[in-house]
Amino acid sequence: MTAATAVRLSDVSKAFGAGKASLLALDQVSLDVAPGEFVCLLGASGCGKSTLLNLVADLDRPSAGTIDKNGARVALMFQEPALFPWLTVTGNLELALKMRGVPRQDRRGKAAELLESVHLGGFAKRRPHELSGGMRQRVALARALALTVEEQQNGKDSGDTSGTVLLMDEPFGALDAMTRDLLHDEIERIWRTRGLTVLFVTHNVREAVRLGDRVVLLSSRPGRVVEEFPVPMDRPRRIDAPDVAALAASITDRLREEVGRHGA
Ligand SMILES: Nc1ncnc2c1ncn2[C@@H]1O[C@H](COP(=O)(O)OP(=O)(O)OP(=O)(O)O)[C@@H](O)[C@H]1O
Ligand SMILES: [Mg+2]
Repeated sequence: MTAATAVRLSDVSKAFGAGKASLLALDQVSLDVAPGEFVCLLGASGCGKSTLLNLVADLDRPSAGTIDKNGARVALMFQEPALFPWLTVTGNLELALKMRGVPRQDRRGKAAELLESVHLGGFAKRRPHELSGGMRQRVALARALALTVEEQQNGKDSGDTSGTVLLMDEPFGALDAMTRDLLHDEIERIWRTRGLTVLFVTHNVREAVRLGDRVVLLSSRPGRVVEEFPVPMDRPRRIDAPDVAALAASITDRLREEVGRHGA
C-alpha cells in the first residue's frame, strides 16, 4: 500500500453467526480512500454501512479480507450520539482527551478549543440533556475530534491531524434540514482546516453529494460496492443547488434499481 492511500479495504467480507443462521453482511468489499479525501458511503438500511465502519475502527474483525490504515489514527462518531449523560459537555470532552493521553492540566484548555471549533463555546457546563439534538451532535463531533488529538510530544500538541481518519455513521440523520445545513458547513470547514480523511455514512443521497469528493454506493444483502460516483462540483456546495440535485437524482435512480433488485 502506498502513501497515497489512507485506508484500504481488500476483499473484506463479514458474516454474522454460523451455519444456516449465518448472515453475510459484507461480501468482498474493496475500497481505497486517499489521505484527505472525503468519501460518502451510501446504501439502503441494513446493507452493512455500520458494519463496515466498525471494521475500519477495529471494533470488529472481518471474516475475510484485510484492512490497511497506514498507521492512521481512527475516530468513530456513532449513529447515536454516545455522550455520558452524567458528565458536562466539558467533562465528556476531557474524558476523551484523557483516553488520548493528554495530561490533566492541558485538558480543560483543549476541551474549550474543541468546543469553540463546533461553535458551542458558551455551553461547556451544560449536560447533554440540556442541549438540543443538533447541539448534542456537535458535542459528539467535538468528542470524535478529541479522539484524534495527536500524542503529546515534549508536552506540546503538534496539532497535526492529517494522519487521522474520521468515521461518521449517519451523524446528522435525525436533524432538521436547517441544522443539518449548518453542520455540513462545519464538518466541511473542520475537514479542510485539519486535513482529515473522512468516511461518512448516510442514506441521504443529497447529503452525500453535498459533502463527498466521491460517493460510493453499496448494494444490500450482501453489501458490495456497486458503483462509485466522483463529485466534480466546486465547494462549498449548496444541498439545493441544481447540479447537486441532478447528480443526486441519477444516484437515486441507481440506488432504486439496487433496492428493487432485492424486492425490498
Ligand atoms: N452484531 C451483529 N450480529 C448479527 N447481525 C448483525 C450484527 N450487526 C449487524 N448485523 C446485520 O448485518 C446487516 C448489516 O447491518 P448494519 O448495521 O451494518 O446496516 P446499516 O447499513 O448500517 O443499516 P442502517 O442504515 O439501518 O443503519 C444487517 O442485516 C444486520 O441485521
Ligand atoms: Mg447503520
